[in-house]
Amino acid sequence: MKILVTGGAGFIGSHTCVELLGKGHDLVVMDNFCNSKPEVLDSIKSIAGRDFAFYKTDLRDFRGLSAIFREQKIDAVIHFAGLKAVGESVQKPLAYYDNNIGGTLMLCQVMEEFGCRRMVFSSSATVYGMDNPVPFREEYPTSATNPYGYSKVAIERILSDLSVSDPRWSVSLLRYFNPIGAHPSGLIGEDPSGIPNNLLPYVAQVAAGRLKELSVYGDDYDTPDGTGVRDYIHVVDLALGHLAALDYIMDHNGVQAVNLGTGKGTSVLDIVHAFERACGRPIPCRTAPRRPGDIAVCYADTQKARELFGWEAARDIDQMCADGWNFARRHYGA
Ligand code: NAD
Ligand code: UFG
Repeated sequence: MKILVTGGAGFIGSHTCVELLGKGHDLVVMDNFCNSKPEVLDSIKSIAGRDFAFYKTDLRDFRGLSAIFREQKIDAVIHFAGLKAVGESVQKPLAYYDNNIGGTLMLCQVMEEFGCRRMVFSSSATVYGMDNPVPFREEYPTSATNPYGYSKVAIERILSDLSVSDPRWSVSLLRYFNPIGAHPSGLIGEDPSGIPNNLLPYVAQVAAGRLKELSVYGDDYDTPDGTGVRDYIHVVDLALGHLAALDYIMDHNGVQAVNLGTGKGTSVLDIVHAFERACGRPIPCRTAPRRPGDIAVCYADTQKARELFGWEAARDIDQMCADGWNFARRHYGA
């Protein structure tokens, strides 16, 4: 099968490309590098030992997108491209709505024009909002607290409406929990520009000596150790979840929202301790006020992914931290 991967140079996209190539799929990758670097493409090729087509274009560029579909016979699209920083989305809502929603609309229009109606979309556990009980189940109502989250809620709605309007569409809305870790080769991983917003890249940079200490946002939540609890999932497991979703949409029309998580909750301090074991160094921490918009606990109900896709995550927190540190160590020369 020939798969178009939008945002394929990014963190999750690059790991998914490696797994797709390993499975024998033909790949067409597109990215505008607004949050990634061209060198990642060479790393993907060197890990997979195979080449693929690449287009440097923006999702919102109708001509650029059309050229891809005209020149390549695309069977399905895995759509990662989007902006993802929650705080930045509050500062720049128009940029987020334009890129995420505008870009997806453009992609759907071009897909429709070329008769390609199979899509796996990167949604997020953020669509469960602030009020649902854990574990989060796919049938819960969706909501959001910031423009990034609203862009995901809106795109889920657009793709659902599209699928209802034309039953030839086949769409998988994958709700990721917290992807961390890196490819075991250490050649690709998460490399945010500037000061990281997310826990794992921050901890890795403290371990590598690039940042002084971790601020633990709140130690008075109603959780076993008072710190926030999340469902961390190894990015390679997440990538494999996309292959399972792809198999599913080849045989089933309609739209399905599916959680990709482990179903297990891990606290901020559990992560710090696991990372200390992985890197053999202490991670200096200080308690800081709660971060606005954070919930206490977030983890997935994983039954639907098991039943529909026959997929479940296999890698544990120690593996996630070991692989994350292996990448950070090589990348930052620590
Ligand atoms: P990332 O920023 O590493 O990758 C996204 C890629 O898309 C980047 O390479 C970027 O350059 C590209 N891109 C962005 N806008 C584009 C555009 N208009 N045209 C072409 N390319 C464009 O992010 P990621 O962590 O790999 O996330 C991938 C997807 O998964 C995103 O849609 C994100 O919202 C979603 N997601 C991520 C997380 C997470 O914690 N990483 C959690 C839930 C959902
Ligand atoms: N945290 C800290 N210190 C930091 C960073 C984070 O204590 O410097 C804590 C947070 O308070 C939270 C936990 O670590 O308790 C995880 O925070 P992240 O920022 O790593 O992840 P979030 O769960 O807040 O959000 C992530 C993505 C969102 C996505 C969501 C889906 O950033 O885009 O997962 O569950 F929507």
